[in-house]
Formats: sequence, structure tokens, C-alpha cells
Amino acid sequence: MYRIAPSILSANFAKLGEEITNVIDSGADIIHFDVMDNHYVPNLTIGPLVCEAIRPLTTAMIDVHLMVEPVDRIVPDFAKAGANIISFHPEASGHIDRTIGLIKEHDCLAGLVFNPATPLHYLDHVLDKLDLILIMSVNPGFGGQKFIPEALNKLKAVRKRIDESGRNIMLEIDGGVKVDNIAEIARAGADTFVAGSAIYHAGKDSDPHRYDTIVSALRAELDKV
Ligand code: DX5
Ligand code: ZN
Repeated sequence: MYRIAPSILSANFAKLGEEITNVIDSGADIIHFDVMDNHYVPNLTIGPLVCEAIRPLTTAMIDVHLMVEPVDRIVPDFAKAGANIISFHPEASGHIDRTIGLIKEHDCLAGLVFNPATPLHYLDHVLDKLDLILIMSVNPGFGGQKFIPEALNKLKAVRKRIDESGRNIMLEIDGGVKVDNIAEIARAGADTFVAGSAIYHAGKDSDPHRYDTIVSALRAELDKV
């Protein structure tokens, strides 16, 4: 089963509520919520207040991608704001196992995120505790960047490790996902696809903004896999 997770980073923030309900009504599965702090990454986006504000608008999972350092202090705030999944970068946490435990104590699913140059050995002792692994196919910080093909090899390696573990762990890809590469990414083992600019830019000239065409096009590619 494949899940499409629009990143609201590329949405029109003046109409954020509508941008979320419309994208879910258009057939997307999960809201990907990019949190940047102008410290761990060179950009500044949205925090728990915005998560809390959008929570009543949808029953879809809110997938919080923390690009912040430190991590632990902000985890309870996102849990209280209604996040379902909270993912973090291992380099940004002093104690990775503790951060995973903290996320789960707050009844959220826990994800670990790998930058293009982050080695997979961070999985060695925590794989059995993770609910999601997120492979970055761009360097984090901005939407609209080009997909880094090496991410496909990483996905294959992680898919193998997940299958060997026998656990139900989501394998998510984030960065530069488009209609023309989503099938290849799925073949490499991803089951959850973040797409920001591909989805939100495709609907920006329709009034109201609708995303049926682009979401269907992404699904049609996944149907071929
Ligand atoms: C980048 C973010 C991504 C971003 C993806 O740091 O984590 O979620 O929104 O945007 P696209 O799909 O445009 O590459
Ligand atoms: Zn993201």
C-alpha cells in the first residue's frame, strides 16, 4: 500500500486551511509538516501553533518532520498539538534512543531521518523501536530541489533491513519526488512519498486550488509498479 504525503511547505500559507482540506479531498493520504529552525537548517518555517490550528481540519495523519536542534524540548509540544508521526535527524539529537522513547511516550509514531550523506549505521541499535524511516533525497531546508539519485541505493538497503526485521516500518522518501520518478522510487522500496512542489505547484492556477489531477497522476505511476 502506497501513501502520498503532500508537504505543505509549498502550499499557499495565506490559505493554509483550504490547502490542507483540498489536498486531502484530492486523494492524498498524509499531511507532511516541515519544521525548520534557522539553526539545524538554514530556513525557518512553522511550529506547534500551526499544527494545533490545522489539526481539526482533517483526520489524515500529520507527519511532523523536525529539522530542529535540539529535538527533545519541542517533542511534547507537537504531540499536544496533534501530531501523529514525529521524525527527527540523528545528528540533531544528543541521545537518539532517548528521543525515540520520548516520542513514543507521547503516543506518536517515531521516525528517524537520513540526510543524503548520513550513514545508515544509526539504524543499528534502534531499528526495532522505529515506526518510520525517512530517506532525504535532497539536503534539508528547502522545497523544489532536484532528486539526488543515490537515495535509490539507500532506499534499497533500508528496504532490505526492514524486510529482514519482519517489522511494519514505513519507508518514506522526501525531496524532488515527481510524476516522472515516483515509480522508480517505489521500485527501490519506498512506500510513502512526500511531494511538495510537485503537488502544490500543479494546482496553483486552479480556482479553488484542486490537486485531483496531480494526485491521480502520481497514483497512476504507482499502479505501474
Ligand atoms: C525539505 C523538506 C521537504 C520539502 C520537499 O527539507 O523536508 O519536505 O518540502 O519539497 P519538494 O517535494 O518540492 O522537493
Ligand atoms: Zn520534509
